Amino acid sequence: MDIVRADDADDLGRRAARIVMATLARAPDATLVFPVGATPRGLFARLIGEHRAGRLDASRARVVLLDEYAGITRDDRRSFAAWLRRDLLQPLDITADRLLAFAPNGDRDIEGSRIEAGIAAWGGIDLAVLGIGLNGHLGFNEPGSPADSRARRVALAPETIASNARYWGRAEDVPPHGFTLGLGTLSAARRVVVLASGPAKRSIVQRLLADVPSPDLPASVAHRHPAATLIVDPDAAPPG
Ligand code: F6R
Repeated sequence: MDIVRADDADDLGRRAARIVMATLARAPDATLVFPVGATPRGLFARLIGEHRAGRLDASRARVVLLDEYAGITRDDRRSFAAWLRRDLLQPLDITADRLLAFAPNGDRDIEGSRIEAGIAAWGGIDLAVLGIGLNGHLGFNEPGSPADSRARRVALAPETIASNARYWGRAEDVPPHGFTLGLGTLSAARRVVVLASGPAKRSIVQRLLADVPSPDLPASVAHRHPAATLIVDPDAAPPG
């Protein structure tokens, strides 16, 4: 795993955007995975800026949603699909038919295989951009997730529920289950970029850099990936 130390949060977005744009320059219909949350905001702003300046045409890209809450309605504004559409896909003119997303009310046993089949039909994932959670999760692959796990329904860890309470008002309102691409699904991506931004992520980044791959730290699957890059801003970067 390569480690890139960005100069600041803005530079982190710029560097991640450069990788997305290089991927689309090589293959305009590339299949991309994006997270939502605080971390990719700078990346999204940069991509939208490039698009508005006429330097990026992402209209042929295919996008797979990394994860989603289970048990909410399809039109809930707090769904990750709605969030990604609002904050990235619509501004980039990526139409709804080019997003492969978990249905929040999808069948618990077959929704994961439906998404895996969709990814396979698109020729696999070219680039997975991921954010690391406070507990080291990637998507909703919480600690304990097997490295070869595929898309599936999962229970959210207490730390994830606590962390996402800011979007739901209170922890009791956060859906306790979700769907997520698996660590095996993400490891099969041709390129993986993990983003870590802000002081709250410093200790998990430190652990990630020190640890050997282990299910206790889901993001550590990146160590085994042949083309993985961790981009950290100075707040998230351990000294060194
Ligand atoms: C989001 C996701 C998570 C987040 C991670 C960091 O789709 O699956 O892995 O990327 O929890 O969240 P933020 O960026 O809000 O700190």
